[in-house]
Amino acid sequence: MAHAPAGSSSAPAVWIGTSWKMNKTLAQARAWAEGLRDHLGGRAPDGVQPFVIPSFTATTTVAEVLGPDSPVLLGVQNAHWEDAGAWTGEVSVPQAKDAGAQLVEIGHSERREHFGETVETTRLKVAAALRHGLTPLLCIGESLEVKERGGSAAFILEQAAGALEGLDDSALSRVLIAYEPIWAIGERGRPAEVDELLEPFAALGEACTGKVAGLLYGGSVNLENAAGLLGIEHVSGLFVGRTAWQLEGYLQLLNIAEAHLAA
Ligand code: PGA
Repeated sequence: MAHAPAGSSSAPAVWIGTSWKMNKTLAQARAWAEGLRDHLGGRAPDGVQPFVIPSFTATTTVAEVLGPDSPVLLGVQNAHWEDAGAWTGEVSVPQAKDAGAQLVEIGHSERREHFGETVETTRLKVAAALRHGLTPLLCIGESLEVKERGGSAAFILEQAAGALEGLDDSALSRVLIAYEPIWAIGERGRPAEVDELLEPFAALGEACTGKVAGLLYGGSVNLENAAGLLGIEHVSGLFVGRTAWQLEGYLQLLNIAEAHLAA
């Protein structure tokens, strides 16, 4: 994969992000963010774009710790498509932005499975994030059943097309996509083999490379498989759960990304 020369490109070559899901107290969130801030010293490795997506409760804490000029982008794990109103328990994009978020995760498979997220709601949420100048991070991915009948590429292309319907080129260029096969996510998932991801990424790459801000891979990323995953054609980043919840794991992933760019 051709990368922009490190440090000279406006678009990051490699995104390395983590969502903490429903984990961490404020004290734990603060400690992780302070550790990252102190490690980076105001500068991310050349060509690497770090991002972190805490629980809503920790958004302002992490924003304050990182500070306004941080090279680390801050996100939320979900946001409603309306700006305000009678939506008990929800948080809007303007509220997330007010709390310091620059990025909105949309359509994670856990939200699709447990909280009724659909292609239509992902479309509304992508539009809301863009309307307020935040980066949508659209998650797509197929079940084991779909994979086993050979339908992975068609399924994820349909999820992406539905969520991104109607966007013009400039809006599309601000969208991040994370391909996260459900069978590879979390403790019940198994790490994907590189070979299994070539076809889905070829399909996504054909549809999206050069049009969106980045194509990320997520699902049981660990310190052993990260370099190989970054080497897959069209992959421009990793979206990581468990391995990055300990700061040490996240820092090692940043090192792996840096080494990948230098290779
Ligand atoms: P995992 O989570 O890295 O712990 O598998 C990934 C995700 O759900 O995005």
